[in-house]
Amino acid sequence: MTHPTPPMSLLAELTHRCPLACPYCSNPITLDRRQDELETTDWLRILDEAAEIGILQAHFSGGEPMARPDLPELIAYANRRNLYTNLITSGVLLDQSRFNALRDAGLDHVQLSFQDVETEGAERIGHLRGAQQRKLAAARIIADDGMPLTFNFVIHHENVARIPAMLALAHEYGAGRVEIAHTQYYGWGLRNRAALLPTRAQLDRSVQDIETARQHYGNTLTIDFVTPDYHLDRPKPCMGGWGQRFLNITPSGRVLPCHAAETLPGMEFPNARNQSLETIWNTSPLFQLYRGTDWMPEPCQSCDRKEIDWGGCRCQALALTGNATNTDPVCGLSPHHHVVTDSLNRNERPELQFRHF
Ligand code: SF4
Ligand code: FES
Repeated sequence: MTHPTPPMSLLAELTHRCPLACPYCSNPITLDRRQDELETTDWLRILDEAAEIGILQAHFSGGEPMARPDLPELIAYANRRNLYTNLITSGVLLDQSRFNALRDAGLDHVQLSFQDVETEGAERIGHLRGAQQRKLAAARIIADDGMPLTFNFVIHHENVARIPAMLALAHEYGAGRVEIAHTQYYGWGLRNRAALLPTRAQLDRSVQDIETARQHYGNTLTIDFVTPDYHLDRPKPCMGGWGQRFLNITPSGRVLPCHAAETLPGMEFPNARNQSLETIWNTSPLFQLYRGTDWMPEPCQSCDRKEIDWGGCRCQALALTGNATNTDPVCGLSPHHHVVTDSLNRNERPELQFRHF
């Protein structure tokens, strides 16, 4: 049996606990409980296995990964195993002494997430008073140290007009990179889709804003822009293809090809508590289910983009058409494309539902 190419990155979702309540949270509707989280020793073994199968990067995420007191120990261990370490955090739990512990552990990079550039908008979305000030203080601590820093902004109908100010903020704080990512509609985000989805005019404006900013900042600020795929005619290659580049591990140890794969019905999800990453990656039914192109229906099967976008997103196909094997309905060639266009044509803006833990 030929084995697939090893994964490049591991996303370690250390906990689902989080002090924020964002209405676009893409974590599962049912969250892992604290008492079900993997122990430190489990994570150390997983990091060993990751290094052994050739993974290069370990991204520590959540929920809020800083809710785990063993975070510096995990980063130090990943570092010893020569994994590039990235912390994806809201920053609200980061102060100078906690940052020093992470830096001394060998942390390579921080991605700091912001809900908005304005305090009022940020704290409405995150639902935590004082959060913006704490995030800016965290940004200052990281920037003063000189550690590579990325600002992440999630964009939606309410804040899309403030992209230029977001980029200016990232530049002012010395972030080398900024990610402007339109909301992806999974999990809680799908529940709030009608309230969050930008209009076509807003999207066009955001594209222009990014163009202008790229010229203005040149190579002093790298700008990654993730467009909302609902407004596209062809889907994105979700996760670079199912089971091709990424591994996600949930707080309780389930090993998944993507963040939202737990929504697949009737699947048995492999667990890092009782199987090695190598076995899961190479032989588990879950990872093989949509790997490559053999599983594809028409129109993907005869399409010249099938090894470019890999048929789009399986979880979006499931959420919007009820069947993960369907072509992603974002694709204009999908027989279900109307479910996407119908949602774009609705004008109502319901109240946001916030995620509380
Ligand atoms: Fe991609 Fe399938 Fe659409 Fe072709 S038909 S562009 S492979 S989603
Ligand atoms: Fe699961 Fe796209 S989020 S395949």
